[in-house]
Amino acid sequence: MTTIKDVAEKAHVSIATVSRVLNNTRYVSPEIAVRVHQAVEELHYEHNALARNLRRNQSLTLGVIIPDSNNPFFAEVTRGVEDACFDQGYVVVLCNTSESTEKAASYLTTLYQHRAAGIIIVSPGDMTDELQAYLDKGYPIVVVDRPLPRVAADMVVSDNYGGARMAVQHLVELGHKRIAFIINQEPLETVKSRWQGAQDAMSEAGLPIDPDLIYHQGDFLPDSGYKAAHQFLRLSTPPSAIFAFNDLMAFGVLSFAYDRHIRIPEDLSIIGFDDIAISAYAVPSLTTIAQPKYELGQKVAEILLKRIQGDDAPILHLTLPTELIVRKSTAAPARLLRNIKI
Ligand code: RIB
Repeated sequence: MTTIKDVAEKAHVSIATVSRVLNNTRYVSPEIAVRVHQAVEELHYEHNALARNLRRNQSLTLGVIIPDSNNPFFAEVTRGVEDACFDQGYVVVLCNTSESTEKAASYLTTLYQHRAAGIIIVSPGDMTDELQAYLDKGYPIVVVDRPLPRVAADMVVSDNYGGARMAVQHLVELGHKRIAFIINQEPLETVKSRWQGAQDAMSEAGLPIDPDLIYHQGDFLPDSGYKAAHQFLRLSTPPSAIFAFNDLMAFGVLSFAYDRHIRIPEDLSIIGFDDIAISAYAVPSLTTIAQPKYELGQKVAEILLKRIQGDDAPILHLTLPTELIVRKSTAAPARLLRNIKI
């Protein structure tokens, strides 16, 4: 059967250009449009995607299941998915699970029953059994951001371990010794990797981790960062730096510091993780670890679209690099830690 790829090769254009010409979604020069239509005719390519997909018993929609549509991190990932799908004529259906595995399971069923062509999932927890059941039926599902090691699926994730290691190394190089951590109660693979990277960097620097400087109730939301800061800063020997495992929790620390007249970074340094767009405009701007959010979405969508089109190459596990973004919320610790009354 002639595919859109065959038409693109014959017309010497990209698949995206063929899609634009046939779906009339964006301007294409007349000479290229003619070449595409000629190739379609010579190859007897059937573009009626809807008819083809209905015959294949699938729609032109892709499901994207995310844990929290309020968190800008997922919006930026979804943007990469949407742009990759648009050129191929697919529509994205966004499903917010509010970090609930029950809700995620319900969305999997609904999307499958409504013949979504495939699913991209950021899992709210361990959904190995649920996902494997669909994959065993040959239903295209790919995993992004949060690894699920026991699922036989394509995955695109960030280097969480390396990112957390860089965050701690940055604080150590500034001279911080009493570093506090806001980590998550959920046993997510991303959290485990970040925690391992942080511990290894502390160990390499010869710095012990004080159990009083670990807040285990982080939930990726600002309020847990606020509560963690309160717990840390009322200690008789408070930390000089806090590493929050995502930017929103770091914002909670910034808010607490503002409420208690604690100067950032003079009295306390704070570093986050994700580098969501607003972090550059926080006051002070947030030092953080950047995840390649748009690229995560783009790459995982490209993989899913190839699976939908019948690609049966071996399963792919891609890890994209993270990057330290130094801004104004970190600095060398004050020589005499100001006695902070909170
Ligand atoms: O901010 C949301 C967090 O959960 C991010 O660190 C991202 O990795 C997601 O999984």
